[in-house]
Amino acid sequence: MSILTLPGLIDVHVHLRDPGQTHKEDFYTGTSAALAGGFTTVLDMPNNAEPITTVERLDAKIASAHKQIVSDIGFHFGTLGDNFAEFEKVIDRVTGLKVYMNVTTGNFKIDADSLIEIYKAWPGSKPILLHAEDDVSDIVFKTLAAVPKQTHICHVSSEAELTFVMKAKEKGLPITCGITPHHLFLTSEDGDKLGAYGHMKPFLKSQKDIDFIWAHMDAVDLIESDHAPHTREEKDSDTPPFGVPGLETTLPLMLTAVAEGKLTQAQLIEKLHTTPARLFGIAVDEATKVEVDMSEYEIKNKDLLTKCGWSPFNGRKVVGKVKTVYLHGTKVFENGKVLALPGSGKIIS
Ligand code: NCD
Ligand code: ZN
Ligand code: ZN
Repeated sequence: MSILTLPGLIDVHVHLRDPGQTHKEDFYTGTSAALAGGFTTVLDMPNNAEPITTVERLDAKIASAHKQIVSDIGFHFGTLGDNFAEFEKVIDRVTGLKVYMNVTTGNFKIDADSLIEIYKAWPGSKPILLHAEDDVSDIVFKTLAAVPKQTHICHVSSEAELTFVMKAKEKGLPITCGITPHHLFLTSEDGDKLGAYGHMKPFLKSQKDIDFIWAHMDAVDLIESDHAPHTREEKDSDTPPFGVPGLETTLPLMLTAVAEGKLTQAQLIEKLHTTPARLFGIAVDEATKVEVDMSEYEIKNKDLLTKCGWSPFNGRKVVGKVKTVYLHGTKVFENGKVLALPGSGKIIS
């Protein structure tokens, strides 16, 4: 058995649904899935059932996490453009500000005209993360040119979106971007076959878009799972919500890409560890590490620790199964089992 040792991975984009929608996921199952996928730090999004737009809601979220987490976790704050007085109160306890500019899960889309006011109001230097698809690129560009605050474009999914980020970088704007494994490994045709289980925002794109992104991986700053669990019942309903889980499949898919020569191991470590740590100011602990068994295995729904219990990659053969995880020197996961006690993870900011 060949073992690869990696630093603890960091996922800057997860939806752990706690509080409010813990039938989909909770802080224990979500951070358990993180460890099973080699992630020792996750940054949680604010589009909860009651969006995290006030200090009271942030406090309630942190209190819930405090009792349950088995990995480290940080929280992005939310805004609809009407809660600027909260920003100073939370700035020391969050990892960034998330703004939704397109329709997605959570009815949490801003009025595009308010983006500039949000940029002016956000204090300090922590990143603003945008769900900004191609149709809003111009507004993002103008806003960032006028108020050049550090901006991360979540889940770029197409040639057009990545080209926009590349051009903004050329102009010297402080912008980064992330890509999800589902946008790298699934086409819109796969999405048709998967039905609701391949239904997420942004939508899956063409092979041409995917080829463009693989050919420009240097322009992609980091890989984010956009772990967005929904139950099978919800997915099978007449109005399936957007989103797919990803914490447990991101590393094996990316290690399989390394084995196939599509990415180097150095790029994998940079995009799943070094760059996320630098961008979000996360302290790196040498005693936090992951041991991965590099044999081939099949992704199976029944082996997943996420509460939703399914993956769009069910049945896919990959290399790289997380065997052991050490968090700050303590063995917290081994051979499919979480060893850490609920509440033993750290809350970061
Ligand atoms: C996410 C969710 O379910 O919260 N869904 C998705 O399709 N990606 C929200 C988001 O990241 O846009
Ligand atoms: Zn999004
Ligand atoms: Zn998301």
